[in-house]
Amino acid sequence: MKIYFRISTLVLLVLFLSEGFAQSNSEFTPGAIWNDNNGVHINAHGGGVMLFKGRYYWFGEHKIEGEKGNTAQVGVHCYSSKDLYNWKDEGIALKVSDDLSSDIAKGSIIERPKVVYNKRTKKFVMWFHLELLGEEYKAARSGVAVADQIGGPYKFLKSYRPNPGLLPFYDQYTSADERLNCQAPATEVDGFFCRDISGGQMARDMTVFVDDDGKAYHLFASEENYTLHLAELSPDYLSHTGKFIRIHAGRQTEAPALFKRGGFYYMVGSGCTGWAPNAARWFKASSIWGPWTFMGNPCEGKGSNLTFGGQSTHVLPVAGKKDAFIFMADKWNPKNAIDGRYLWLPMVFENDQLKIRWKDSWDLSTFQ
Ligand code: GAL
Repeated sequence: MKIYFRISTLVLLVLFLSEGFAQSNSEFTPGAIWNDNNGVHINAHGGGVMLFKGRYYWFGEHKIEGEKGNTAQVGVHCYSSKDLYNWKDEGIALKVSDDLSSDIAKGSIIERPKVVYNKRTKKFVMWFHLELLGEEYKAARSGVAVADQIGGPYKFLKSYRPNPGLLPFYDQYTSADERLNCQAPATEVDGFFCRDISGGQMARDMTVFVDDDGKAYHLFASEENYTLHLAELSPDYLSHTGKFIRIHAGRQTEAPALFKRGGFYYMVGSGCTGWAPNAARWFKASSIWGPWTFMGNPCEGKGSNLTFGGQSTHVLPVAGKKDAFIFMADKWNPKNAIDGRYLWLPMVFENDQLKIRWKDSWDLSTFQ
């Protein structure tokens, strides 16, 4: 028994060291420093996590110290994990360019990168919000990069504003406030849409979602951040097909995250107050094309009016567990960007209502 115990401990230790971990985590502690295998605070802000061949990969914005860290000085960082608690540094997946004329020049703004795998082309596709060097947040473009290996290196392909020359897709369910008449825009926000038809629609905070049928969708804050657009991506995921809808027009939703549960589509987002936290909001739909029903604030308890100090970035389905979804949020520190923290909290579904409650610490056993 004693020998058995010692051997098993040794095996665990060897396994652990083979991943290079200095010390192991066995729970989530939202808002605390979260060290990687090298004992360094994870640097993957505004990120997303994807599962590939039994391993999770977390991609996010690499930040540096100070306010300069709010711009892209390094690129998109990748980490991997088997258990979601312990993350191994996989290095920089997409590097900024030293060529100052590049769209992704060092000092540009690269935010909210999301990676998806295309089963047809066997390529990994990364979309991100891009702002050109020296232009603050004016460009409002989508950037796309591609790789043969999940960890990269990702090759930057292009950046642009989606869906130039096009009107949204309407069906009988499209609500009146999502319909447009660019001859006489009904609201100022409709006017932003109409203004941008020629050059393409603005695209800032964003995510990418792959449905069960393999179709991918790009969801982004458009129209000066007043309206979300949900746009279909081409079969290779490298461009937009031109089919898109407007969601919650004029009501300023940012930081969108999209997931599917029991045949329904769910979306979580934030309001629009820059780096400062505000109340989260969620939406539900039975078709990806809507109608998307606004469901209010999913957070409950103390701090719920400010999303516990965080802002949504992704919803992570836990593999092998039914109804297990993790709400991933960033607690930004714009004065010292590298010190941004991560708030991961379990989602709870109660009578078809989505709830997110604060926990000082928790582990995956919280899911049945
Ligand atoms: C937030 C947005 C972040 C970043 C920031 C800049 O609203 O969610 O991704 O763009 O504004 O102020």
